Amino acid sequence: MKKAFAALLALVAMASCTTQSYKDSSLSPETRAKLLLREMTLEEKIGQMCQYVGPCYVPPGQGSAYSNIDADDPNLGKPDMAEKIRAGRVGSFLHVLTSTEAAGLQKIAAQSRLGIPLLIGVDAIHGNALHEGCTIYPTNLTMASTFNPGMMEKIGAETADEMRQTGMCWTFAPNLDVARDARWGRMGETYGEDTYLVSEMGRYLVYGLQGRDGLGEHNVLACAKHLIGGGEPAGGLNAAPMDMSERKLRELYLPPFKAAVDAGVATVMTAHNEVNGIPCHGNRWLVQDLLRGELGFDGFVVSDWMDIERMHSMHHWLESEDEAFKVSVEAGIDMHMQGDKYFESILDGVQSGRISEKRIDEAAGKILAAKFALGLFEDAEVKVREDHSVEGAAEHRQTALEAARQGIVLLKNDGILPLKEGQYRRIFVVGPDADSQTIMGDWAAPQPEENVITVLKGIRSMCGDAVIEDMCFDGKILSIDDAGISAARRKASASDLNIVVVGENSQRYSSYGITCGENNDRDNLQLPGRQQELLEAVYASGKPTVLVLLNGRALSLLWASENVPAIVEAWEPGMMGGQAVAEILWGKVNPSGKLPVTIPYNVGQVQTVYNHKHSQYSRKFALTHSGCLYPFGFGLSYTSFAYGEPAIASSEISASGSTTVTVDVTNTGEMDGTEVVQLYIRDEYGSVTRPVKELKGFKRVTIGAGKTETVSFDITPEMLQCFGAQNSWSVEPGDFTVMVGSSSADKDLKSALLTVR
Ligand code: BGC
Repeated sequence: MKKAFAALLALVAMASCTTQSYKDSSLSPETRAKLLLREMTLEEKIGQMCQYVGPCYVPPGQGSAYSNIDADDPNLGKPDMAEKIRAGRVGSFLHVLTSTEAAGLQKIAAQSRLGIPLLIGVDAIHGNALHEGCTIYPTNLTMASTFNPGMMEKIGAETADEMRQTGMCWTFAPNLDVARDARWGRMGETYGEDTYLVSEMGRYLVYGLQGRDGLGEHNVLACAKHLIGGGEPAGGLNAAPMDMSERKLRELYLPPFKAAVDAGVATVMTAHNEVNGIPCHGNRWLVQDLLRGELGFDGFVVSDWMDIERMHSMHHWLESEDEAFKVSVEAGIDMHMQGDKYFESILDGVQSGRISEKRIDEAAGKILAAKFALGLFEDAEVKVREDHSVEGAAEHRQTALEAARQGIVLLKNDGILPLKEGQYRRIFVVGPDADSQTIMGDWAAPQPEENVITVLKGIRSMCGDAVIEDMCFDGKILSIDDAGISAARRKASASDLNIVVVGENSQRYSSYGITCGENNDRDNLQLPGRQQELLEAVYASGKPTVLVLLNGRALSLLWASENVPAIVEAWEPGMMGGQAVAEILWGKVNPSGKLPVTIPYNVGQVQTVYNHKHSQYSRKFALTHSGCLYPFGFGLSYTSFAYGEPAIASSEISASGSTTVTVDVTNTGEMDGTEVVQLYIRDEYGSVTRPVKELKGFKRVTIGAGKTETVSFDITPEMLQCFGAQNSWSVEPGDFTVMVGSSSADKDLKSALLTVR
């Protein structure tokens, strides 16, 4: 009976479809996509699955992406690309860097048989930063230090707005890698080492980019990447293999993707690496069973840059590229990022019966549905405006400034900070990062100088009538020589205060000295080049010295922590970062950032994460330090906070029960301040071994000097569950220690006992 009814419904649906048109904007994107698919040839459907790098994209020093194009050619690239678009064989572009190019490409697409618009994507990771003139927000690691997901949503919305102005409608963000090895150059692109923090920051970025009420004309598609496990690569090298238990995958790496899917993320990108011997781009279990089946993801999956081909060439897993293309489609990858051979290979595969056309319909249908949802079929025209009032708008820059203020972490302060106005007559600002655009981090194109407030500029605007002397080595981290170090020592001796600005360079389009960022992994965590010598030479002057770090990964800072009186970890605070640094140095802003990663003593301690297992450090290193230099969640303020004893509403609950923990936090200093109150939980004993503690909640609270705020957290079954010995999630009865405090270090936490019956 049920079957007959279902068949009847299908007939009715089909009959009504015959009278409907994909042009009817009152229909759902999915229905419109289905209707459009009926009118498409196989070639046109496969075309939707093909993405190419923008024809005018010219990575500095590499020539153009297509050997025979002239980047100034008004016809936009090599003639056969325009032909391909007109033939309906291109679904998407990435790295289209000007609105003029975007407008031109959409115009060509409109000339194709069905006029299907292009989906133009870009790595707008912290603002639409590959476009000149847009707002460059702090990088993700800096944002994670704010512990402020609401700020992520605001930044997402502003970024989307700036993207749509430039013709972009899809960003490859959020990056949801959980970064647990600082040698890996992409740490700065992530929200750090903790699953919960990554999940929260990522989730809110999706809300901001895509909007909470469906995609509007100011929204873009988000892309949760990279599925999965690339943040802990063997040897610290990008794309290296990952071997992990299913438990680790589910507990540590999958939750951020679940959070993004629950938030409605439209697209997902698979990771370069293999997991347990299967490259992610060919992993059917990962994409079909886990992502689509269990998490319920309904959008489309894009490959990472030419990673399908690499299942053959890099992983040596599949014997040919043709096989790799076929396996990727079967595994559930819907779009191929960049490269010439995919289209013909898939076409041949379907025509010869090796690849099912049903899968092609499914993949193309999902991509088309995304285009319908964005409203591109109604209006894909990119307006090239003279007026750039949205890109880099004053209000957006203000957000970038506020984000930088909240994300900078004060690691050490022997009392030298905050600096007082007029306290030091002569100030020496020294270091290759002092006046450099590296302050913006990776995935940012060089910006007009006047748009970027470097640390030197920030200091000049803040220091009153002090005399500033500077020495910035032309921004070249790796070019410091003996003469430079001697000169710095002399100048440091002649000054009243030295501010040393050193760190890394993650800017992929710098012409020299990149030390961090994608494919810039390192085998040590020292300051690169001779910056440590520079720091020690300046310090040896005996004059007060402050260290400001600009870097996209955790560095080993042992010497500095033992010697330099104040250390400011500014990470990569974006285009307004120099102002925020100066405001913190002079106490105009009270620092409130907290570390989203553990800072190890040295490289031998990578993976010294706070949420390790009990046995991990039961033994000590023979000759050096054990533990970590600065713990996850740590960051100083110019005021101090005292925590009361946490009170749990019901100290015994059932496995499905919830309760609340409440704590009083008092600002015991003389300055108003903001504290990130952190909640950690330890499952004392389980059917499998459990971490020493896990972050389960946090709240940023601003507390006036001398005032007390009461902070509460709900404790839900979701926070108590583990993936137990039976390979399933459950809350196991027993004792849980609930900890609340100012960092993940035991000495900073107060605890209470919770029993699950
Ligand atoms: C990166 C991705 C990025 C893509 C496109 C790849 O190399 O891994 O994160 O989205 O390039 O630029």
